[in-house]
Amino acid sequence: MSKLTLDRILQSQGFGTRKWCTELVADGEVSIAGKVIRDSRIAIETDDLEFTVFGESWTYRAHVYIALNKPANFECSRKASHHPGVLTILPEQFNRRDVQPVGRLDHDTTGLLLMSDDGPFIHKQSSPRHHMPKVYVATTHEPVTPDLVAQLLAGVKLHDEPAPLAAVTCRKIDSHRIEIVLEQGKYHQVKRMLAAAGNHCVALRRSQIGMLKLDELGLAEGEWCYLDAAQLALLKPG
Ligand code: URA
Repeated sequence: MSKLTLDRILQSQGFGTRKWCTELVADGEVSIAGKVIRDSRIAIETDDLEFTVFGESWTYRAHVYIALNKPANFECSRKASHHPGVLTILPEQFNRRDVQPVGRLDHDTTGLLLMSDDGPFIHKQSSPRHHMPKVYVATTHEPVTPDLVAQLLAGVKLHDEPAPLAAVTCRKIDSHRIEIVLEQGKYHQVKRMLAAAGNHCVALRRSQIGMLKLDELGLAEGEWCYLDAAQLALLKPG
């Protein structure tokens, strides 16, 4: 059980500064259980709290854990330069509560991207020590050969990397697609590994992180959802 004043609740959920949130409440824009609340200083139980702002329903969340089916042509960096940032896909409240991508996908890579405002969660998920397998489907320019799969499994030497990097698993899907599972998250890793093995990646999609599968989330490209406890429990090394 934890109680917070309504202005602090709204601020914590990304509705703006405390002053702004106080004004929202005073203007009658905030309701709880169908009742307009005009006093922002009253303390409210946050567990299971549902409220509406400008008629839109929200659930109080101490932290948010989001899965996005990232479309191409969006950047994961906070200061996006050539393409819009992935945060522009989400409601503006998430930007204000400092939601960030967990790791990075290239601007032209599509698929499963986790986002959160929980610092320790982000740190743990992106730490190389966590050995979180990530599954990618790469479309290749040249046909997929047994030699390509063998090289990726054995390890390929990348410029600037002291030791060869190997896929955890790798399998041919069809003539021009492979599924590759990596535990590291080096810069452009899949594309550079394919290039080092003599092929070229023309499209890349992340389909799974840990045991969390994008296809099971039912998200079209550009759609996102909150992850519940059961889905978060899938985010662990298999
Ligand atoms: N490997 C890449 O080359 N790009 C990504 O976006 C992710 C993994």
